Amino acid sequence: MTPERETRTFQRASLPRHRGHDAAAGAGRSDFAATDDYIGFCEGLRQICGIDLTQYKRPQMERRLRSYWSRLGVTKLTDALPRLRSDAAQLDNLLDRVTINVSQLWRHPDQWARLESGLLQELSAGGRLRAWSAGCSYGAEAYTLAAICSQVIPNATVRISGTDIDQRMVARAKAGEFSAADARTAPPKAMERWFERTADGWRAKPALRSMTNFEVGDLLKLRPAGSSYELIMCRNTVIYFADQIRDELHASFAHALRPGGVLVIGGTERITDAASLGLAPIHPFIYRKS
Ligand SMILES: C[S@@+](CC[C@H](N)C(=O)[O-])C[C@H]1O[C@@H](n2cnc3c(N)ncnc32)[C@H](O)[C@@H]1O
Repeated sequence: MTPERETRTFQRASLPRHRGHDAAAGAGRSDFAATDDYIGFCEGLRQICGIDLTQYKRPQMERRLRSYWSRLGVTKLTDALPRLRSDAAQLDNLLDRVTINVSQLWRHPDQWARLESGLLQELSAGGRLRAWSAGCSYGAEAYTLAAICSQVIPNATVRISGTDIDQRMVARAKAGEFSAADARTAPPKAMERWFERTADGWRAKPALRSMTNFEVGDLLKLRPAGSSYELIMCRNTVIYFADQIRDELHASFAHALRPGGVLVIGGTERITDAASLGLAPIHPFIYRKS
């Protein structure tokens, strides 16, 4: 599948408004700053760069924002908006602070072991594997999957799409470069086989890069077409979202899987009512669509 065709499997559509957002909208936009500088800040940021922080868990996000701005001498969040409008570097720094890009190669090794020992073979029985790393950060998850697929299903046609809201992470993912620390739990033999050494780390070999493509995308806006993937990995990303948004995303992933397809979530996450989405657990944090 070419990147162009893959792009068309995502259709932009607006989400039903989250309750918190509706309440804010009901207050009237001009009242935001007067009543709640956090909501006023979120609305301003949404206008500046399109990222809607009202969909994320407020306590954690607000703590992060206030500690970031208080170090810069700003106590009222809405006072920071003019700076973000006029200073692209400041906006970049802030997004670094709020999007939490932590990742690593072979993160959660037991999940990779389960995929490697039969599951990938089964998912690609039709000769192809279409996989989506949703919230891919700088690509460690997608390249780990590419390396394992190269190892265990060498004859399948494998296309791995990575999506992240943070364009700097997507640029890094396209480069396919990783630090030595990124590889700290990766099997040394696999690293030597599928990555090449650089001055201070590793770069994915062309064989892996040809299996992956990365795009900037907001999971809150993307609507993947039904039955488009055999495998979706969304780990350590929905934990930042409000519960209702997390549940809507899990429903959207279930819809995007073909019957028999598999959803992998993070090791601290849960799906609220997996059965109602047609998902059944087959391993801790791994679900199959019926
Ligand atoms: C902690 S990283 C997880 C990376 C990888 N999945 C892993 O488990 O190693 C979370 C990623 O989610 C991305 N993210 C946050 N909100 C997003 C959104 N609305 N749409 C797409 N990606 C988002 C962040 O930019 C960040 O790179």
